[in-house]
Amino acid sequence: MARVDLRNQANAAGEWFVDTRCIDCGTCRDIAPGMFGEDFGLSVVRRQPRNGEESDAWLAAQACPTSSIGTVSRRPRPGRLYPREIEPRSGVFDLGYCSEDSFGASAWLVVRPAGNVLVDSPRFTEALARSMDELGGVRHVAFTHRDDVADGRRWCERFGARSWIHTHDGTAAPWATDLLTEEQELQSGFLAIPVPGHTKGSVVFLLDGRWLFTGDSLAWSHERNDLTAFRGACWYSWTAQSDSLARLADSHRFTAVLPGHGARHLGDPDDLHDRLVRLVERMRA
Ligand code: SF4
Ligand SMILES: [Fe+2]
Repeated sequence: MARVDLRNQANAAGEWFVDTRCIDCGTCRDIAPGMFGEDFGLSVVRRQPRNGEESDAWLAAQACPTSSIGTVSRRPRPGRLYPREIEPRSGVFDLGYCSEDSFGASAWLVVRPAGNVLVDSPRFTEALARSMDELGGVRHVAFTHRDDVADGRRWCERFGARSWIHTHDGTAAPWATDLLTEEQELQSGFLAIPVPGHTKGSVVFLLDGRWLFTGDSLAWSHERNDLTAFRGACWYSWTAQSDSLARLADSHRFTAVLPGHGARHLGDPDDLHDRLVRLVERMRA
């Protein structure tokens, strides 16, 4: 529950606020960029929700890793909003409940006939696990990179799932059952593509040639209205990351970018391809 006594004074006047325990992960700003903004390294409510926008404020509140978003009158939340299918009948669910241990990265559940896949790790709660039980549980846990392992071991144990991480990031999950070394299918239509750069063992996962789970290697930017990559948070090699994204553009198409950090985006495959090519050009400039 957000702490009214720690309400950031920079919040816009009104019911909704962010408290100063915020770690500036950016998740609320990616979910509801019209309402949340950044002020001296902390998120604040820039504009109070208008009619019909409160649902987005609640989505941000339930995703926030530090439970820093709430209402002054302590309104009860409107039930459990996650897992949340991002498009009807897509089988792709945003899990919310970001973990502080992964700096608030988003995690995703993909419901598949061959067994469900958890991409990266939300904060472990038994209530969320029960919701995932109702969706068929988890057979594979696939980590995009070492930063976003968080409660991954608990999720693997809870569901008896296999777990996948690239060998170069493997020390972050020494209990993982499977190490990735090269492009390979985890299941038919679910492809792991190594993209060294953000970390040496970064991987993106492409589902059915459509949904691309990108970890921290590629994201959408609301500010630029374009694809982006995070030079200030590149831990291994910017040159390698540029080359990895160039290879990705050469060899794969996708219609949705679902990142750990940064905004998600659903678009047109040719448009996203062209944007990725131009992003690589900017990265190399
Ligand atoms: S989601 Fe929470 S921790 Fe992350 S920026 Fe927003 S208020 Fe801060
Ligand atoms: Fe990361």
